[in-house]
Amino acid sequence: MTTVRYPGVGDAASPSHSERNAALIEDLRASGWLRTDRVADALEAVPRGHFVPPELSGQAYANEVVFTKRDVDGTALSSVSAPWLVAGMLERLAPREGERVLEIGSGGWNAALLRHLVGADGRVTTVDIDSDVVDRAVRTLAGTPWQDVRVVQGDGRAGFRDDAPYDGIMVTVQASRIEPAWLDQLASGGRLVVPLRLRGMGRLLTFTAENGHWRGGGWEQCGFVRMRGEGAAQDTGATYQVADGIRLRVHDSALPEASALTGAAQHGRRELWSGVTVGITERTRPLVDLWLATVWDRYGRLLGDPPSGGDGVAPLPGGSSATWTSTTLAYVTMRAADDSGTRFEYGVAWHGPDAGLAEQVTDQLRAWDQRQRGGQGPSLMLYRDQAPSPSTTARVLGHGTPRLVLTWPR
Ligand SMILES: C[S@@+](CC[C@H](N)C(=O)[O-])C[C@H]1O[C@@H](n2cnc3c(N)ncnc32)[C@H](O)[C@@H]1O
Repeated sequence: MTTVRYPGVGDAASPSHSERNAALIEDLRASGWLRTDRVADALEAVPRGHFVPPELSGQAYANEVVFTKRDVDGTALSSVSAPWLVAGMLERLAPREGERVLEIGSGGWNAALLRHLVGADGRVTTVDIDSDVVDRAVRTLAGTPWQDVRVVQGDGRAGFRDDAPYDGIMVTVQASRIEPAWLDQLASGGRLVVPLRLRGMGRLLTFTAENGHWRGGGWEQCGFVRMRGEGAAQDTGATYQVADGIRLRVHDSALPEASALTGAAQHGRRELWSGVTVGITERTRPLVDLWLATVWDRYGRLLGDPPSGGDGVAPLPGGSSATWTSTTLAYVTMRAADDSGTRFEYGVAWHGPDAGLAEQVTDQLRAWDQRQRGGQGPSLMLYRDQAPSPSTTARVLGHGTPRLVLTWPR
């Protein structure tokens, strides 16, 4: 392993840093997020420890996010992103020597990785809305081989026109929509990697241009700190307290009456099983959730830690897809399908008098099993304005333009 030395980085080049970094890189390879030697070389050359504040240096080479700034209520505002996610995003963006790249959401580490990948003939611009983050990025990049990264303070929703067009744009803050400026500033053939909320579900997506529209791919689940700035608040959706410790988050959907939800939650939980069983390694939940988000008009994410036992509202760990009527709340649940601990059956849990809603949910779980399971999965297209009309297996996501259309094969 090469030890990188550059001015101003004292102990980042020390054996303990390089050993811990090497172990992290091994981990990332084993998990499959890191696939290419190019990205591995960048991770080796750019020590994360240099970009993590000294008081948090113990976390520098753990495969976890390091939060660097929080709101007064504890909400995370900025972080050094988790290595697995950074590696996965770099693999998707695949920056080549000499390319121009825009990073939205700064910190220093990822910008330095990008700069290492595009080389001295390339150019990296990073934009952050927060002056503290900008100052920290400038400070940590100074005196390193990546100090020519351009760090700009501004709202990344507008991209950064002065350095456009970009061969790649990497958004490192949670987006609820694709901003028109990002598309305007992409060079032809450019790639956009973005953690996007699709009906409240965080998915890591890559968009590439294709005959007048953009095709999105990916579907891996991911979460980022929320986007700040003017206009960002309108994207946060609505959150309802359904029961103690349980909330329903609704984005991009007709909103329920709060009293209908709390009324439904007064009814004990009943369950109906679909007969659809899956192996734990199939990792079907991200796709099943997307399927239900396509076929349900009323869609939300039910979240929280249910008390153990009893017949209260009990979403799955990580959240359940949920739907409702004026009297009843229904959501996806699972139970062991056998004693192996590796097979599970999908079902619906519901609260309220409307058993028909529960039957509809199990029908839709069976429809996924019969028509979509093992298939090519959904496609996600981004159109500037005119988009094909929605159908039973296609849904236009969000409002206004650009338009995102999620479509499943018929
Ligand atoms: C996860 S951190 C970025 C991590 C960073 N890329 C790294 O190298 O680890 C997300 C950043 O996005 C910034 N941010 C939030 N809203 C923004 C906006 N509208 N425009 C630009 N940056 C924004 C936050 O201030 C925060 O620093």
